[in-house]
Amino acid sequence: MTDQEYGDGTRAVRAGLPEPVKYEPTLPGPVFAAHFHLPGEPTGPYTYGRDENPTWTHLERAIGELEAPGEEGVETLVFASGMAAISAVLFSQLKAGDAVVLPTDGYQALPLLHEQLRAYGVEVRTAPTGGDAQLSVLDGAGLLWIETPSNPGLDVCDVRRLVREAHAAGALVAVDNTLATPLGQRPLALGADFSVASDTKGMTGHGDVLLGHVSCRDPRRAAEVRRWRKIVGAIPGPMEAWLAHRSLATLQLRIDRQCSTALALARTLAERADVTGLRYPGLPDDPSHAVAARQMRRFGPVVSFELADRERAERFLEGLRLVDDATSFGGVRSTAERRGRWGGDAVAEGFIRFSVGAEDPEDLIADVLRALDEAGKTD
Ligand SMILES: Cc1ncc(COP(=O)(O)O)c(C=O)c1O
Repeated sequence: MTDQEYGDGTRAVRAGLPEPVKYEPTLPGPVFAAHFHLPGEPTGPYTYGRDENPTWTHLERAIGELEAPGEEGVETLVFASGMAAISAVLFSQLKAGDAVVLPTDGYQALPLLHEQLRAYGVEVRTAPTGGDAQLSVLDGAGLLWIETPSNPGLDVCDVRRLVREAHAAGALVAVDNTLATPLGQRPLALGADFSVASDTKGMTGHGDVLLGHVSCRDPRRAAEVRRWRKIVGAIPGPMEAWLAHRSLATLQLRIDRQCSTALALARTLAERADVTGLRYPGLPDDPSHAVAARQMRRFGPVVSFELADRERAERFLEGLRLVDDATSFGGVRSTAERRGRWGGDAVAEGFIRFSVGAEDPEDLIADVLRALDEAGKTD
């Protein structure tokens, strides 16, 4: 059996592990080192802690095995956060005079990047995620950035189609794969040049680590991203990298549980008259479903919906007992938030982004139904 033929669970538990060494642990502990013994010529693999670290190496191999199973030559670089990974691709690949296409409905810190890119002389064009609207602004662009499914609206774009058109137009394609994780979607297999993610979310899944990564097939591009990491120094601590690697072992267990409960929750919410605007790419009648089903292997832990207004949404969140009112998503403990409270997304006041955790589905759904009923009572 080759790597490529293993199931996701097998791959996840073994990802990035070194060859067994007698008396050594299966996953070596974090290496805390700012510098390494380095007599003579200063050549790698380990010279200085901002450039490389053995704990990153294990994690980078692990993520690479999940992003591109069985494929040699894909390079993965870990970063201090998802934003560090995103910025590394954008700022290492674009220069003054280039044009980039970014989503209008992506992660809410993207507009800050628009401003920064413009300040550096990069032309920023925008397009919504759904309906492959990016096609109309591709001409002459150097990079197309897509986030699919988008956070928080859960729209989906056709990665294969966009890659085909972007490459024909001479543009690179980067996919923010945070919501899906590599078990849900493999952007490199869909043709993208970069798969980028905030591993703060589902990849690490416990809400206790900030981390990001970039995976890339082209060694020259990878070297540019690596150089950017060295310049900016947005590197993960060894402890965070090790925790992330440990968490990857349960990735398939967590994601499968989260996705099946998310679908059950979405189906339950679809029956409620007090819930509108329900979105979950795994629901067969969701506007994203047809495209999502062609390119995703799992539909993710996030369900979005609207309640009548801000007050009702706040009462709902207060009424939940098993769900933390907190931002972020993809963790083993369910979280939900009224997304409009941040002011950065074009969402209704009663819009809820709900991230399904690993609780027993019956308990979680009962909690949601009770909180919805209670939130409706005082109206
Ligand atoms: C889709 C997406 N990309 C990137 C990020 C940024 O990641 P981080 O918070 O790890 O910097 C987030 C954070 O919520 C996100 O949701």
